[in-house]
Amino acid sequence: MTNSMYSNKSSNLSGKITVPGDKSISHRALIIGSLLTGKIKIKNLLESEDVIATAEALKSLGININKKNNIWEVFGNGIGNLTGSNFRLDMGNSGTGSRLIMGLIGGSDVEATILGDESLSKRPMKRIIKPLLETGAIFDDPNNDNLPIRIRGTKIPLPIEYLSPVASAQIKSCILLTGLSSTGNTSIIEPKLSRDHTERMLKYFGAKILTTQLSDATWKITLEGLPKLNAFDIEIPSDPSSAAFPIVASIITPNSKIKVLNVCINDLRIGLYKSLIDMGANISFSNKRELNGELIADITASYSLLKGTKIPKSRVPSMIDEYPILCIAAVKAKGSTVMEGIEELRYKETDRIAAMSEGLSLMGIKIDENKDSMVIHGKGPDSLIKGNLTINSKLDHRIAMSFLCMGLITEESIKVEDTDTINSSFPSFFEIMKKIGARLKYA
Ligand code: S3P
Repeated sequence: MTNSMYSNKSSNLSGKITVPGDKSISHRALIIGSLLTGKIKIKNLLESEDVIATAEALKSLGININKKNNIWEVFGNGIGNLTGSNFRLDMGNSGTGSRLIMGLIGGSDVEATILGDESLSKRPMKRIIKPLLETGAIFDDPNNDNLPIRIRGTKIPLPIEYLSPVASAQIKSCILLTGLSSTGNTSIIEPKLSRDHTERMLKYFGAKILTTQLSDATWKITLEGLPKLNAFDIEIPSDPSSAAFPIVASIITPNSKIKVLNVCINDLRIGLYKSLIDMGANISFSNKRELNGELIADITASYSLLKGTKIPKSRVPSMIDEYPILCIAAVKAKGSTVMEGIEELRYKETDRIAAMSEGLSLMGIKIDENKDSMVIHGKGPDSLIKGNLTINSKLDHRIAMSFLCMGLITEESIKVEDTDTINSSFPSFFEIMKKIGARLKYA
């Protein structure tokens, strides 16, 4: 068991803050940077355990990466040029890191074993093994769904057209990274459009990628193989999934108002904010601008009287990581909040539907849970919610942070166990929450 934290009833959260760099874009900057020819500088890389695991894996594979005066430098050695065998790459807690690194290996003459922590070792991997087998990658046991997994890639992967059953940026990015080494076009068709940071970043460096909606409303993303990529420096915007915690905390905590600067507001990432606005939250975006092909803005949020709503299924991929914190907002809403089409939450760092139902039920919140849906029956803005209980994070950073935000509005404190997992995505969570006035304390 690692550290625990207490969260105590708070009010008047306020201030202007910056949350760390976006996790998805940080992984991609390192991995795609390793495929460029020459050096790039990366500003505002998220220095969380997940991203550091990706940097370490790349270093083990022979990529020169270092940090000088807060700027990270990656010396790429071109597409498909990694070689070697018997690598053991420990990806820690990171689903994105493990699946994208396997995509990178898929397009190079590399043999490696990918490992992960207890939580990652339970997460499904067949979803990427299946398309990678089609490209010519070899697996010791193609029927094994879990890490550790031994993979051998090929410098000349076959161009494939893959129909993905799930809208997942990790599956899409894994296939695109392998496809970079292919001499032909690689396509993936996904049921709904998932976050497109890989496509945006590859385009920024010069790749040709086409995204089109097909007649059956699915999306096809096609990459031309062996693109000529240019090594440009990159700055990472702040992570909307991390900003979600102080923002929801301010929306549910009386007399609060905060501003979060330079947040990535890519339309495929801001489903939570749209849903909160539907629920009546005071949220506004200002100073909109572009940063390396990504849209960013400052977000202002203040205490709001929320009402329940039905979250459109079409919005699921754009808020896939934000359901736990949305559940917390839904508790304070008047009426029910209906979340459907969310089975993917069961395959995250923990089964997030089960974890939220379990924790909120302990507080006396009524929840209906199904295989792929959840309904939270809100207690309303004037309700008193009981605390005085302990939640285990289940090695899931977003479960830990969500219940710590909940503790700001419960009558008695909430203790969250195993909070070190927060370091996988938001290492400065405690300091930033304290800065706006949240009464958090290490146990
Ligand atoms: C991510 C994609 C999402 C998300 C994860 C980060 C990414 O997973 O949950 O935290 O960076 O590609 P899926 O693509 O599997 O939905």
